[in-house]
Formats: sequence, C-alpha cells, structure tokens
Amino acid sequence: LRARGPVHQPKQGPPLLLSHRLCSEVLRDTRIGMRLPGGRSASPNNTLSGTFIEYDPPDHTRLRRLAAPAFRPRLLRDYRTRIEKVTLDLLHSAVRKGEFDLVTDFASPLPIAVISDLLGIPDEHADRFARNGRLMAESPMGTSRLGHQRAINAAIADLGRLFADLMEQRRADPRDDVISLLTAAESEDRITADELVKTCGLLLIAGFETTVNLIGNATKLLTDDHPAQWALLKQDPDLAPRAVEEVLRYAPPVPFASRICQETVDLDGRSLPPKTMLMLLFAAANRDPEAYAEPDQFLLERAAGEPEHLSFSSGIHYCLGAPLARMEGEVALRAMIELMPNLRVIGEPTPRPTNVLRGYLHLPVAV
Ligand code: HEM
Repeated sequence: LRARGPVHQPKQGPPLLLSHRLCSEVLRDTRIGMRLPGGRSASPNNTLSGTFIEYDPPDHTRLRRLAAPAFRPRLLRDYRTRIEKVTLDLLHSAVRKGEFDLVTDFASPLPIAVISDLLGIPDEHADRFARNGRLMAESPMGTSRLGHQRAINAAIADLGRLFADLMEQRRADPRDDVISLLTAAESEDRITADELVKTCGLLLIAGFETTVNLIGNATKLLTDDHPAQWALLKQDPDLAPRAVEEVLRYAPPVPFASRICQETVDLDGRSLPPKTMLMLLFAAANRDPEAYAEPDQFLLERAAGEPEHLSFSSGIHYCLGAPLARMEGEVALRAMIELMPNLRVIGEPTPRPTNVLRGYLHLPVAV
C-alpha cells in the first residue's frame, strides 16, 4: 500500500493514513477532531465515549488539565518506588513457579496495581477494581463484541458506584490521589460528578491493557524474536528506556486511531468534506521509510535524529500517561534482566482477539 502513496482509500470505509508526516500533521490540525461538526459524539456506544479522550476543546482542555497534575514529576518519582516493589513481588513469585504466564502473572497485575494507587482504590476493593477493569478493557478505543456488552455495562455501572463511594469519602477526608484531586475540582464546579467518574474510568481503560501489551510485546520481541537485542540489553541494562521506545515503535499496543474532519480539509491533494472520518495507522507510520532507517528492523540502538514513534499519538491527545507507561516498561525490563536472565518463551503465545489492541492474552515462559 505504501508504494501507492501516503493515503490509501479502500473501496469501503475511511481513508487510511500511512505516513509519519501526514499522521503527525493531522493530529495537530485544529480543523480535525474527535467529534462530528457541532460536537456530537461519533461513536456514543464506545466505552470511552463521554471521557475527555473523545472530546474536542474547550471541554477536552478543561478536563485534561484537571487530571494532568496526577502525572507531575514529583508524583511519578513516588510511583516509581511503588512500581519497583510490585514488580519485584510479582517476579519473585513467578521465579518460584519456574514456568508461568508472563501476561496473567506479571504484565497484567502490574498496571492494575499502579492505576489503583494512582486513583486511590483501597486494598479491599482491589479485586473488584481489577475484575471490572479487565472487562472494560475488552473494548478499549473501539466497540465491544456484542456478546460481552451486558457484562461490560455491568462493569461500568459497578465501577461508577465504587468511584461515587470513594468520592464521598474523599470529600470528607482528602488524600494524595486522583479521586481527591478531582473531588476538590468538583467542589469548585470545574468538573461535574459524571465527568469525574468518567475521567477515573478513562485512566483505568487507557492505562491498563495498553501497558499489559507493552510488557508482553517487549518480552516476546526481545527474548524470542530478537535474542541478539536481548543479549545487548542484558550487557547494558541502561538501554532499557531505548528498548521500551523500540518496542513501542515496532509493535504499538494501540495500532491506530481515528479522527473526523470538522470542516473541509485538503489532504494530500484531495478535498475532504466535513464529517469525513480518517484512520491514522500508527503501526504503518512507525515503519515509514521516510522517517526511519531500516524501519522493519528491531534495533535498540537507532540512529539519532529519527522522530518519536506515534504509539502515544501526538498533538493535544498525546497520551497523558506516557511517562508512567515508560516507567513501568523500564522497571519491568530491568527487573526481568536481573531476576530472570534466561527468560524464554516456551509455548505458543495467544494473540488478543481484536485489532484495536496489539498484544498477547497469554505468553507462556520459563526462567
Ligand atoms: C491517550 C497509548 C498508557 C492515559 C492515549 C492515546 C494513545 C495512547 C495512542 C491517544 C489516542 C488518540 O490520539 O486518539 C498508550 C499506550 C500506553 C498508554 C501505548 C502504554 C504503553 C497509558 C497510561 C495512562 C494513560 C499508563 C494512565 C494511567 C491516557 C489518557 C489519554 C491517553 C488519559 C487521553 C489523553 C487525551 O485525550 O488528552 N494513550 N497509552 N495511557 N492515554 Fe495512554
């Protein structure tokens, strides 16, 4: 497809954008947004509908600003200690087993613990939170499979109740967590109770399975597909942040995103009328030969000056949790190198049965 140009128009469906330059331009174009002209939601049944990821300014700006302090550097430093502790606990029990499922025993419980902390979910509700989170994450950034819709709706309702109870508690007894932060904003009329619950849900959905996939994809790519790069990383664990970036570029957990033209836009020589939907293929843009040398090679030491991958998107919706996800990936890789240097995949991985997320449901490994 790429040889035919940076935009591909299939017989049916929206134009597909394949180039890094064009995707970046569209993500920064104020005439192109998440919602239909006039502000109606384009996919009201999506689990993320009504959360700020699918809003345009000014509501997007207002709500993102309220959640952003949860990701400020001082708090991130505190989270690191917690991430390291959870990582070590999980990996020590995994090592004792000898053989285990990298996804269910490690990659999945880690981000759930981190988001629980961030939001301030008390330990006694941790299982309820994780169970509902898993169900909701079945349909992130896309529409769910029909059979699961009822269970997903029940999960959303139960999480809503949990968040509402916690808001009540935090109003009386504020702490250093996101629910307290947002509850304080609610008391000043900067966020409604409904928006507050939805923002908590967004952090859970956006930060959970995406990070699971980062860790699962990293393990498979490094230990199984590219052992020479794994050896390089073991020799120099300080390459871990670069390994995280290369995994994100090569196998983006969120492989595409959509946008909608809110007015007529000229794109690569075509005039697109308002309401035209665009599909931005991050997975293709991340391997654009105009942006990356040897784009199909998985290399920890990439040439300086190459642009950042688009796996965290770009523009105003750039992933708010990117520093946290990067930290989780780095801590996970460093700990895996130290505690399980002979880690290897021992069975057939089970890919996720969806195209909205790229990663594994199961990855059998031995240490
Ligand atoms: C937005 C990817 C982890 C919170 C996004 C978007 C992408 C993305 C692609 C933008 C979608 C678009 O432009 O349409 C990822 C990946 C992650 C990750 C690949 C892990 C490797 C996290 C974490 C959190 C988080 C850990 C928080 C706990 C968010 C939020 C947004 C977002 C709140 C909405 C930002 C906005 O609309 O302004 N993420 N994410 N993400 N992400 Fe992440």
